[in-house]
Amino acid sequence: MRSCCAVLALALVAKASAQDQRAIVFMLLLYFVSFLAGCMCNTMKWATCEVTPGSCECTAMVAEKSKQVLNCSALIPKCFLMKAEVFRAQKGLSSRSGGKPTEHAFVDDDGVYDPDCEASGVFKAKQCAGTQTCWCVNSAGVRRTDKGDSGLKCNELVKTVWLQIQLKHVEVQLPLNETQVKTAITQTISQRYLLDEKHVTDVKYERESHTVVVDLKSDGSSDGDIATVGYYIEKDVKRMTLLRNASNTLTANVNGTQVDFESFMIYYVDEKPPTFTTNRVMGGVIAATVVIALAIVAVLLLRVSIHCRLGNLK
Ligand SMILES: *[C@@H]1O[C@H](CO)[C@@H](O)[C@H](O)[C@H]1NC(C)=O
Repeated sequence: MRSCCAVLALALVAKASAQDQRAIVFMLLLYFVSFLAGCMCNTMKWATCEVTPGSCECTAMVAEKSKQVLNCSALIPKCFLMKAEVFRAQKGLSSRSGGKPTEHAFVDDDGVYDPDCEASGVFKAKQCAGTQTCWCVNSAGVRRTDKGDSGLKCNELVKTVWLQIQLKHVEVQLPLNETQVKTAITQTISQRYLLDEKHVTDVKYERESHTVVVDLKSDGSSDGDIATVGYYIEKDVKRMTLLRNASNTLTANVNGTQVDFESFMIYYVDEKPPTFTTNRVMGGVIAATVVIALAIVAVLLLRVSIHCRLGNLK
């Protein structure tokens, strides 16, 4: 079909006058160049995009010899992102893109594994590591049961309906106005992550501790994939943004002041409570504390190193 059209087009070009021919070739060239330039994946910068006749197809490697086709008009589902991330890590391709060294603190988390995804990018309810250990996850891909053997049953994918994200912003010159912080955060999140503002149900701000607490809620439908948004936010705060053509960090413009964030913690609330029997919650709190402590140390180190460098310049 396409080659027939091409032949037809060529025949028309052949019949046109020399001047028209030049104009047509120029237009085609322009079209092709602009198409090439536009064939990139804005929602995942590790993706590979190829111009195919009439379209632009972007993919990411998720396993040896296995490519996942991506829809770059939307955020890439968390399940695909995790698969691609684990694959990159195995290949020794770092996902880092500069910034402060907080990554190890987070990689330790129970959350990073090579997940099984549905074709739509939704997590499969049952996840396994190898053939022995399995567990059930929520729609955010986070374990919500004890680990069991391969006989474990996960009857349904329980929806994560509420994410609470706790951020701390870096030192700012002037105290920030609470209402302005809330507005700026809501706008930034909805614009940067293509999320309808209705899903940002609450933002709390505590000036003394620099803490911003954001509630994201969704009924679990794909238009409000809050788990994926949470993952993008986490990557941004860790200076490993997945977005192309975006600043490398989550920055909110609060009435003209650029506010940057330096620590990240996330709580998952599912439709049904999790069924852990072990004292995992306490472990989570300790892990989160360690993460925050590491982030603070990293910031201090960064300041010292900048200070030293500035000192050397003088
Ligand atoms: C890609 O995502 C956009 C935005 O969510 C959606 O409108 C479109 O239907 C999706 N395309 C495919 C092929 O799924």
